[in-house]
Amino acid sequence: MAAITAPTSSTVQTLERIGAHSHVRGLGLDDALVPRPSAQGLVGQTAARRAAGVITRMVQEGRISGRAVLFAGPPSTGKTAIALGMAQTLGADVPFVMLSASEVFSLEMSKTEALTQAFRRAIGVRIKEEKEVVEGEVVEIIVDRSLTGATKTGKLTLKTTDMETIYDLGTKMIDSLNREKVSAGDVVAIDKASGRISKLGRSFTRAREYDAMGGDTRFVQCPEGELQRRKEVTHTVSLHEIDVINSRTQGFLALFAGDTGEIKPELRDQINVKVGEWREEGKAEVVPGVLFIDEVHMLDVECFSFLNRALESELAPLVIMASNRGLTRVRGTRYTSPHGIPIDLLDRAMIVQTKPYSEAEVREILTIRAKEEDVDIEDEAMSVITRIGVETSLRYAQQLITTSSLAARRRKSARVEVPDVRRVFGLFIDAKRSVKYLQQHAGEFMSDGDFDALPAPAPQTAAAPMEGVSTA
Ligand SMILES: Nc1ncnc2c1ncn2[C@@H]1O[C@H](COP(=O)(O)OP(=O)(O)OP(=O)(O)O)[C@@H](O)[C@H]1O
Ligand SMILES: [Mg+2]
Repeated sequence: MAAITAPTSSTVQTLERIGAHSHVRGLGLDDALVPRPSAQGLVGQTAARRAAGVITRMVQEGRISGRAVLFAGPPSTGKTAIALGMAQTLGADVPFVMLSASEVFSLEMSKTEALTQAFRRAIGVRIKEEKEVVEGEVVEIIVDRSLTGATKTGKLTLKTTDMETIYDLGTKMIDSLNREKVSAGDVVAIDKASGRISKLGRSFTRAREYDAMGGDTRFVQCPEGELQRRKEVTHTVSLHEIDVINSRTQGFLALFAGDTGEIKPELRDQINVKVGEWREEGKAEVVPGVLFIDEVHMLDVECFSFLNRALESELAPLVIMASNRGLTRVRGTRYTSPHGIPIDLLDRAMIVQTKPYSEAEVREILTIRAKEEDVDIEDEAMSVITRIGVETSLRYAQQLITTSSLAARRRKSARVEVPDVRRVFGLFIDAKRSVKYLQQHAGEFMSDGDFDALPAPAPQTAAAPMEGVSTA
C-alpha cells in the first residue's frame, strides 16, 4: 500500500456576518456547568444548556463517542442555537460537523456515503511529529556562482545567542533561500529532513536598521541555546481528509474543490488500520468529535438504520440530532413515530428537551438580537415587539427588529419607536395571520382539491406517426 499521508495544517479565513445565530458565543455556563441566566448570547433554556454542557465536557475528555443525543422541542426554542454554542465551547481542536439532514440526499453520492463522509469528518486524528530543525538568526549568506550559472554553492552562517555555525549550501537550498527572500537578520527554521525553510521573523537586534519595512514584519528574539533542536509539532486532521488525500491522484486539491466523490470501502479499511498503527506507535491520537444532524426527521428509514449500525462501529463520533416534530411519519415508511425517528434509534438516544420561552426570556433574546444588529429600540417599542414574539413566534419578532429599524431610518430617526413597529407589523404578516387569511378567503386560492377539477391534460399520442413518415 502506498504510504498514507496526512495534510499539513492550513489557515482558512472566515468572513463574519450577522446571521440568525451570530450572537451565540458559547453555552454561557460557569465552571461547575451551571447555566448563567443570560451569558455568551444564550438566555434561559437552562436544563437543555446544562445537559449540553455535560455532554461537551465529556466530549472534551474523550469519554463519549458512538452515542446519540436528541434535542427535541417546538420550533425556535433554541435547539440549533445550543448546538452552535456547544461547537464554540469545544474549540478548534475537536471536530464539530454540522449537517442538515436534507443534505444527505444528493445525486452525486449515495445517502450512506454522504453519512459515512460526515461521520469521518467528525473524527479527528491528532498527529504528532518530532522534527529535527536548525533554528537561528542569519548572520550572512554567501553564494558562489559557477561561470555558467548552472551550479551554485555557498555558505550560510547562523547564530543563536550562544553559538554560531557555518553551513555549506547546495543549489536546492540556495534556491529556497531565494524563494523565501531570506536575508541577514532573519530568524529562520530549517527542517533537516525536508530542507524546508520557514521564516519566523526578523531579529529584534536588527529592528532599527530597517525602518522602511512593511507593517506586517514580525520581530522575534534571536533563539537561545543550540542551533539544532528537536521540535514536537502536532496538527489535527479529520479521517475524511486522510481518506480524500489518499483516494485520488489530485490529492488534497479535491478537498478544496469539494469534488470528493465516493471513496472505496477498502481504502477506508486500510486507513483505519494505518491510524491504528500510528496510535500504537504513539504518533497519533484519535479525537472523536461531534456530528450534529439538524432537522433529523428529514432522514429516511434507510439512513436511520445506517445510523443505528454506524454508531456501534469503533470509530464513531458523538451524534447529536435535533427535531421539532411530534408524532409523525418516518420518511420512507407508512408508520408514525415520535419526532419522526424510528423507535429503535430513539431507544439508543439520550433525549434533551427544549421548552417555549417566558415573556421575560423572549425580551432578553430580542434585546440581544437588537444589539447584535446594531438597532436602537425604545423601551416601549421593545415591549410591543416582545408581546408580538410571545403571541406569534420568536423568529417573526426577530424579523421585526430588522424591518422596523429600516422604517425608523426612513423617517430619519436613529431609534425604533412604536409607530415603526406598528407599520412593519401591518406590512409583513406572521404565519398565524396568513393562515387566518387563507381560511377566510379559501375560495380565492388554488387548493389541493382544485387540481382534480382541472381538465385532464391531452393524452400523449406517442404512437401517432409523423406526417410523411412511414412507420411500416
Ligand atoms: N436561549 C436562547 N438564547 C438566545 N437566542 C436564542 C435562544 N433560543 C433561540 N434563540 C434564537 O432564536 C432563533 C431561533 O432559534 P433556533 O433556530 O435555535 O430554534 P430551533 O429550536 O433550532 O428551531 P427549529 O426547530 O425551527 O429549527 C435563533 O436566531 C436563535 O439564535
Ligand atoms: Mg433549528
